[in-house]
Amino acid sequence: MRTKIVVGNWKMNNSVAESLELATAIAEKVGKGIHCCEVGIAPTFLALHEVGKLIEWSDILLTAQNCHYENDGAFTGEVSASMLAAVGCRYVILGHSERRQFFGDTSAIVNRKVKKALEQGLRVILCVGETLQERESGVTGSVITGQVVEGLDGVADISSLVIAYEPVWAIGTGKTATSAQAEEVHASIRATVAGLYGQTAADHLRIQYGGSVKGSNAAELFAMPNIDGGLIGGASLNADDFMAIVKAAC
Ligand code: 13P
Repeated sequence: MRTKIVVGNWKMNNSVAESLELATAIAEKVGKGIHCCEVGIAPTFLALHEVGKLIEWSDILLTAQNCHYENDGAFTGEVSASMLAAVGCRYVILGHSERRQFFGDTSAIVNRKVKKALEQGLRVILCVGETLQERESGVTGSVITGQVVEGLDGVADISSLVIAYEPVWAIGTGKTATSAQAEEVHASIRATVAGLYGQTAADHLRIQYGGSVKGSNAAELFAMPNIDGGLIGGASLNADDFMAIVKAAC
């Protein structure tokens, strides 16, 4: 039985003060000792340190939205995996479609980041997803398989890894993949991973769905056999909306 995982990706939203306020509200609701699902929040880099201290008492897992693939050096504007681990991050989101689309994160770069983050003891949420054009051209399967295979190239152990399937056309658009559409891709990701790492490792892998998840559609998505939680954007910016999704996973 896989423990579901729900993570709020706050993206470039909330000042440090606002992040502390939202984190406080979520921590009060999640509390300590609720183990029906894992819950993470991913604030702006600026707020990670303070939010981390604030939620330390709770079960919430501090998550970062990105990292660099080197430990340190002349990489202006970047943040390393070791720096994230040092402020208490447990997870890092890598390969989000917004990074791939706007910041040049190719699968090869994402793969270097995945390996560095795992080496530094972080757990990784590796995002994959097809564009609307790719879906309409019938290449969803090959695009997703390519992103999974390239993202995991040279990764020996996936026990600290989660995959998030986020169809680009469903992100921030209010258009959710149907539970059947999502399940089909999740099952194919698990089959790809089974081919790479064996059935047992694939059976243990959590695969989250992301893309316009709300309290009203979360339960149906999470009821699918291969959907193991969600990566939440817009609805994670409000504590009550986010908690409705967490509850749907429990
Ligand atoms: P929305 O929930 O706003 O569609 O965003 C999903 C997402 O990109 C999470 O990483």
